[in-house]
Amino acid sequence: MGTRLTALYARLTSPTMALHEIVKIPDKRLRLVSEPVKRIDAGIRKLVDDLFETMYAAPGIGLAAIQIGVPKRLFTMDLSKKEENHEPQVFINPEITWTSEEKATYEEGCLSIPEYYEEVERPSQVKVKYLDLEGKEHEIKAEGLLATCLQHEIDHINGVLFIDHISKLKRDRVIKKFTKAAKKVEA
Ligand code: NI
Repeated sequence: MGTRLTALYARLTSPTMALHEIVKIPDKRLRLVSEPVKRIDAGIRKLVDDLFETMYAAPGIGLAAIQIGVPKRLFTMDLSKKEENHEPQVFINPEITWTSEEKATYEEGCLSIPEYYEEVERPSQVKVKYLDLEGKEHEIKAEGLLATCLQHEIDHINGVLFIDHISKLKRDRVIKKFTKAAKKVEA
């Protein structure tokens, strides 16, 4: 860890934050449909802190609560490329309100399926309604990487994984590989 990263980490980390283990396939929790957040209270704020800490440490650009085992409809995201210029974003109770007819293909990966990448086709633009950490409602129109990430993370809170959007042959192959690896760890 370089000096700059250390300073950044100190800034992002409060004493109450905690790093969590990321849930990986074939863990069945990843297939749960998460529950709406009813109240944005201290528990939710702590959950968001923990998600950010776990996401940045991974490192990753998006992390849904269910990926640390909490079935609540929220996720964190940071699409900034430079570590000195973080753009942390929180999406609570997000809903896709519109998708474009036009599609786009991106190579996706997921912290719950480490080191596996595959091209996924999705609507190229979406509108998403969500609450921020203050409980304020927003609706944004997204395209490019943001549109893809929003759809990927909203899938997570509905128990859907990006491998559900690829061929059955490829999906079965990757699930088999991770199931084998998980059994080895157990043994
Ligand atoms: Ni993911």
